[in-house]
Amino acid sequence: KKVVLAYSGGVDTSVCIPYLKHEWGVEDVITLAADLGQGEELGPIKEKALKSGASQSLVVNAQEIFVKDYAFAALKANALYENQYPLSTALARPLIAKLLVEAAEEYGADAVAHGCTGKGNDQVRFDVSIAALNPNIKVLAPAREWGMSREETIAYGEKYGIPTPVKKSSPYSIDRNLLGRSVEAGVLEDPETEPPEEVYDLTKAIADTPDTPEYVEISFEQGLPIALNGENLAPIELITRLNKLAGDSGVGRIDMMENRLVGIKSREIYETPALLVLIQAHRDLESLTLTADVSHYKRGVEETYSQIIYNGLWYSPLKAALDAFIDRTQERVSGSVKIKLFKGTSKVVGRKSQNSLYTPDLATYGAEDKFDHKAAEGFIYVWGLPTRVWSQKIRD
Ligand code: ARG
Ligand code: SIN
Repeated sequence: KKVVLAYSGGVDTSVCIPYLKHEWGVEDVITLAADLGQGEELGPIKEKALKSGASQSLVVNAQEIFVKDYAFAALKANALYENQYPLSTALARPLIAKLLVEAAEEYGADAVAHGCTGKGNDQVRFDVSIAALNPNIKVLAPAREWGMSREETIAYGEKYGIPTPVKKSSPYSIDRNLLGRSVEAGVLEDPETEPPEEVYDLTKAIADTPDTPEYVEISFEQGLPIALNGENLAPIELITRLNKLAGDSGVGRIDMMENRLVGIKSREIYETPALLVLIQAHRDLESLTLTADVSHYKRGVEETYSQIIYNGLWYSPLKAALDAFIDRTQERVSGSVKIKLFKGTSKVVGRKSQNSLYTPDLATYGAEDKFDHKAAEGFIYVWGLPTRVWSQKIRD
């Protein structure tokens, strides 16, 4: 039996290797680590996998696909789960699932595996995405079944030569990629406790931010960000720079109580500087370039779209159908938005577009006013007619 395992290099996924081999009789474990911009962790990952008993260790750089096909699709939808979380972790799962399935097909594996626990969203996203991409591939989730505590997991790993984490390992569960960081567990499990500064890495504390505001102009072409301060940038570079710019001003922190798909409420800390600022700017540009009805209707689509991503239905007919709607709305969403970053806040302070629907002659209160004030009277009469009828009726 041959299995492709989603691999992060951490203790838990490392322990999955001997566990699959010795408890479940898997002969070949091929590990797959997706480089989604998590940075330093990927260096020694190949040797680590092989030392833990993997027969092959794959590292796939998928940063560009991640940004272009996953993050930017979510950006066009202004996707924020429960109005706050820009889905930085959730977006990575369907892509990792795709890489797993592709590797399984290429290497002739019977199954794929992941190290998710049984109480999170990630297991759902992996399992459902894999099923959508290839319903004939089995999914193994050892950590969902082994019932070992953290200490037992480490002890089990030691038996098979997996080193105990050297430094006293972080009390937090952290997921990191180009879009940001998700942090759970430790003291964060008490919703009343303010997160200690140590949980943050991409954003500065207000006390350490500059005393003068930072301005950034973001340019979009058909809904996609293409430039910062007039400089055209490729997607990865744009996200990286904006993460730094916004993070340095303390922008991008989220502290929320979140409803997981599996019914649990959990306290989550996120740092997603670039993505939050991009959504803010994109939304503002839409308010300049979309008609009122499209704009209002899109809000409902955005809510559904966010839930689709969060709930693991990236590869689904509903998602594909909503993509068609969203893409159509983006045809004229081109222009620039100026953002002011200061002491943990980001504010839109200006916007322009060659497709602007803003009409100064109609909006002005000055002498140039071309709006037909008298026409308003007839409009209000008809608009208010049902209200007038109703009010009269309840008085009769
Ligand atoms: N709650 C977030 C989500 O469902 C983040 C999950 C973080 N995952 C992790 N392994 N720490 O998208
Ligand atoms: C996990 O439990 O595997 C991580 C948290 C989550 O998926 O929400």
